[in-house]
Amino acid sequence: MCAVQVAAPSVSLFQWPRGRHAFTPTRLRPTSLILVTGGAGFIGANFVLDWLAASQEPVVNLDKLTYAGNLANLDAVKGDARHVFVRGDIGDPACVEKLLGEYRPRAVINFAAESHVDRSIHGPGEFVQTNLVGTFRLLEAVRGHWSALPEPERASFRFLHVSTDEVYGSLGADDPAFSETTAYAPNSPYSASKAGSDHMVRAWYHTYGLPTLTTNCSNNYGPFQFPEKLIPLMILNAMEGKPLPVYGDGSNVRDWLYVGDHCSAIREVLARGRPGEIYNIGGNSERRNLDVVKTLCATLDEALPRSTHRPHDRLVTFVKDRPGHDRRYAIDASKIAKELGWQPSVRFEEGLRRTVQWYLEHPDWVRGIQSGEYRNWIETNYAGRAIRPSATPL
Ligand code: NAD
Ligand code: DAU
Repeated sequence: MCAVQVAAPSVSLFQWPRGRHAFTPTRLRPTSLILVTGGAGFIGANFVLDWLAASQEPVVNLDKLTYAGNLANLDAVKGDARHVFVRGDIGDPACVEKLLGEYRPRAVINFAAESHVDRSIHGPGEFVQTNLVGTFRLLEAVRGHWSALPEPERASFRFLHVSTDEVYGSLGADDPAFSETTAYAPNSPYSASKAGSDHMVRAWYHTYGLPTLTTNCSNNYGPFQFPEKLIPLMILNAMEGKPLPVYGDGSNVRDWLYVGDHCSAIREVLARGRPGEIYNIGGNSERRNLDVVKTLCATLDEALPRSTHRPHDRLVTFVKDRPGHDRRYAIDASKIAKELGWQPSVRFEEGLRRTVQWYLEHPDWVRGIQSGEYRNWIETNYAGRAIRPSATPL
């Protein structure tokens, strides 16, 4: 499948409205546009919405619509002629080549991935397929397109690969934070597949000169996050008075970044990052999982003063740990701060408050997610973990 599914009614590429970026006078083609992959997922959708709020430059959005892809995330740009949604696979060269040839993007930003560590433990195959093989095929299609571009389009073209801090492995309590030169040591099928994709991106730069950029970011949270990940899962469970399943003893540490800050970092890297470079992105917000859940419970206590589930932290339940669970992630984001002047702008407690508020205000979105497939996943992941109220770690 490779078909335009969402565009403004009867708007084709050649009918985009006139505007600063709309048409070149000679070819009836937007002077520039970007191709985003995975733009119906959590971070990709936030990126597309933020991009179109800040710029007139159109976005072509290629997404396979797996369980994690959701067109409802893009409702705010429904009917917007600057957004073209194409359902398709980054691993389908014919589809990607067709899009590149037809739309001639000035940049490709690759968000598309299988992204959940627990799912990668239950079934690593899809992770290898999309994250490794898919990225390889995407890189090859992009390389073919880029090689044939005339100057100066060729020189200004960028391929930005969105990756994760998990490729660096796990830190001890006193280890220095991950920097761009930390050796790769992925521990889960997810992080191994992302590490492989990062290595390919690096090789395509060094071997073929493809102007690549790689970002390695810490844990994101915010609107539209699929509720298999810690923060939205805990918000929805707490709202419904269900147990809050904390893995192990809850002392694993993650560095949390509000998704809007991740999007602004990607915009900066795209605009001014140096080809071939890696940029680490983090929130300066290291927290133990148990502390995250407790802060979230306190936020919900405040937001829902009449809830019968208050205080929500009595729902905390320690469950069997994730196999190979990385102990601690921390990001040294001094390179992006120094070179590009980027800093996170949303404090963790404020971001959490906004996120809780967003989930409370979007019950239709939540209902849409909590379909059969979602229930199957919850059953698969938590059935073997002995979910029963337990105030102490298992
Ligand atoms: P997500 O799972 O919410 O969304 C992934 C999107 O990719 C979905 O819309 C899905 O339909 C699409 N997709 C999957 N396979 C595809 C394929 N073969 N072709 C086209 N589209 C496909 O993921 P996310 O949390 O938004 O993460 C986006 C990217 O950011 C991923 O590359 C992830 O590794 C990276 N990342 C995520 C985080 C985080 O905390 N969520 C942190 C750092 C980096
Ligand atoms: O660090 C960046 C990564 O962050 C991204 O690359 C991944 O795509 C993203 O999923 C995230 O990975 P984590 O494994 O850190 O995220 P998750 O939300 O699954 O878990 C966060 C922490 O919370 C982790 O230590 C496991 C724990 N956890 C998670 C779930 C789902 C629980 O204790 N209970 C749970 O039910």
